[in-house]
Amino acid sequence: MRITILGSAAGGGFPQWNCNCRNCAGVRAGTVRAKPRTQSSIFIRPDDGDDGVLFNASPDILEQIRANPVLQPARALRDSAIAGVVLMDGQIDHATGLFMLRERTAPLPLWCTDPVHEDLTQGNPVLRVLEHYCGVQRHRIALDGKPFFVPGAASLEFRALPLSSKAAPYSPHRERPVPGDNIGIQIHDVRRDTTVFYAPGLGDITPPVFDAMSSADAVLVDGTFWTDEEMLTLAVGKKTARSIGHLPQAGADGMIDWMERLPPQVRRYLIHINNTNPILDEDSPERAVLLRAGIRPCEDGMLIEI
Ligand code: MLT
Ligand code: MN
Ligand code: ZN
Repeated sequence: MRITILGSAAGGGFPQWNCNCRNCAGVRAGTVRAKPRTQSSIFIRPDDGDDGVLFNASPDILEQIRANPVLQPARALRDSAIAGVVLMDGQIDHATGLFMLRERTAPLPLWCTDPVHEDLTQGNPVLRVLEHYCGVQRHRIALDGKPFFVPGAASLEFRALPLSSKAAPYSPHRERPVPGDNIGIQIHDVRRDTTVFYAPGLGDITPPVFDAMSSADAVLVDGTFWTDEEMLTLAVGKKTARSIGHLPQAGADGMIDWMERLPPQVRRYLIHINNTNPILDEDSPERAVLLRAGIRPCEDGMLIEI
């Protein structure tokens, strides 16, 4: 399978419009060596097809489509390589890009869990609004581990794993999590017999999550924060990483520790990186720690073949 990283930043992107933290101010001024990034989304297509699956629809999707010609194969007057959209949660950075796909000439095939569907028809009724445009052909993602397929990319098999993370602030489950608020996905390329585990929002490595990571050829997982207190330390926010459902990289039982326990052949990538994270600075000691551990931070436009 071929994975195009459309957006590797967390909600807000990098630099974030209203932020003057060291990273955001530094990348604008050119004094910090770092690459700007758009908000969290990836596109996966099989080796032998132009059509693929969009994971999450970020508010930056139009810019992402322009920057990545694979998304516009131009086979017809109105065309797109997006065979369907799979949502990992119902947060703004992952769902509001659906509005930008409203010009479709047929209902948008969309896969999401029941709690995400509820959030996107109630707290933030994106899917109800879309009914006034192209409409949505919604498919339910079950949490029983059974595989599902997206027509148009049928050699890829998907399995969802409920995760401990956080629903959006407009969700009735924000402080009372239910299974399916956030999922990780195992993507199995049936022809190559390779598997990727994708989880851009991951608060806790439970035994099933660790099993999914260990049995994958590559993991693309939550790279939001370096430390739990990052936003407090930088005085840009009052919430810890863990309280909003993101496992930090540093420290005991942080993401780096967990990744070091994976079998050596597993390729390790971080995605959904917050603008405050020091790993964005390519000259930072934190970035060096990551690279020494064999972990790569994703960049927009990156192509990963597995
Ligand atoms: C999150 O995953 O915590 C989000 O990026 C927050 C947001 O989009 O505001
Ligand atoms: Mn997010
Ligand atoms: Zn910032």
